[in-house]
Amino acid sequence: MKLLVTGGAGYVGSVCAARLHESGHEVVVVDDLSTGHADAVPDGCRFVQADIAESAAALLAEGFDGVLHFAAKSLVGESMQDPSKYWWGNVVTTLALLEAMRTHRTPRLVFSSTAAVYGEPDTVPIPESAATRPTNTYGATKLAIDQAITSYATAYGMAATSLRYFNVAGAYGAFGERHTVETHLIPIVLQVALGLREQVQMFGDDWPTEDGTCVRDYIHVTDLADAHLLALEQAQPNQHGIYNLGNGTGFSVKQVVDACREVTGHPIPALVAPRREGDPASLVAASTRAQQELGWQPVRSQLSRIVIDAWEFARARQ
Ligand code: UFG
Repeated sequence: MKLLVTGGAGYVGSVCAARLHESGHEVVVVDDLSTGHADAVPDGCRFVQADIAESAAALLAEGFDGVLHFAAKSLVGESMQDPSKYWWGNVVTTLALLEAMRTHRTPRLVFSSTAAVYGEPDTVPIPESAATRPTNTYGATKLAIDQAITSYATAYGMAATSLRYFNVAGAYGAFGERHTVETHLIPIVLQVALGLREQVQMFGDDWPTEDGTCVRDYIHVTDLADAHLLALEQAQPNQHGIYNLGNGTGFSVKQVVDACREVTGHPIPALVAPRREGDPASLVAASTRAQQELGWQPVRSQLSRIVIDAWEFARARQ
């Protein structure tokens, strides 16, 4: 297939672009490099540096079999301080992309949605049928886009899939997490092991969890990429499939820090800090729908594997 990958110079986008290219697809990456890196675009993929809203129509006029839409603003804290950046950058940009797809009859869409659409869950693990009550602007914009996609798919015949990521982590060779402002737990902990930070702060140890620190469902970025390939193959016209992607097992902040100590051999000093605003205690996916309907199975999402791959990537970049 000829595929347009928005945000293919970013973390998840570059890993998926690499896997799509390796699977024999023709990949065109469009990215404005606001947070991505030109050298993260995999070899063999054509790269267009452009604003997606401005360039989507001209690009899709070439004729594409599908779009994988990764490009987004994705910092929860920033989304609360500067919501305009999220409503325009995520929702308005995606509406422009959907319009361009409609005009040029692009048949397939895979969209990067998020567990943040659920907010504070009533039950864990979280199924796709859970109530969607986002507690931050980032999650609200992704939910709005999911809803727009449902109506576009139904009315205009697209075969669409939203993949709701839980905590994506790990790396794929030279492709990994390189945020200018790093807020994610595993890269931060590994920065301590690399000597780039003195210590890690654990945000709260009085949560209603087994060891008092927050529990998250960490999923290896290559398992996530596999789900995108399956979604592309299996999506049906006029339908919008929505799938949670997690490994179904939660790990606490303390367990993550311990796993990083074990893999790196570094003592990694960790201090307890106040709770971070907006953090739910525990987020774990029920991914049975993706397993049953897409035939997806996470195979690299053991915590040690995730940390080993992230550590190899982080060390190689020093
Ligand atoms: N944490 C720390 N110290 C840090 C950084 C994080 O204790 O220095 C804790 C957080 O409080 C949280 C856990 O580690 O309990 C994971 O935090 P991350 O920032 O790595 O990830 P989040 O769970 O906050 O967010 C991720 C994605 C979001 C998505 C959300 C949905 O980054 O885009 O999952 O579950 F919305």
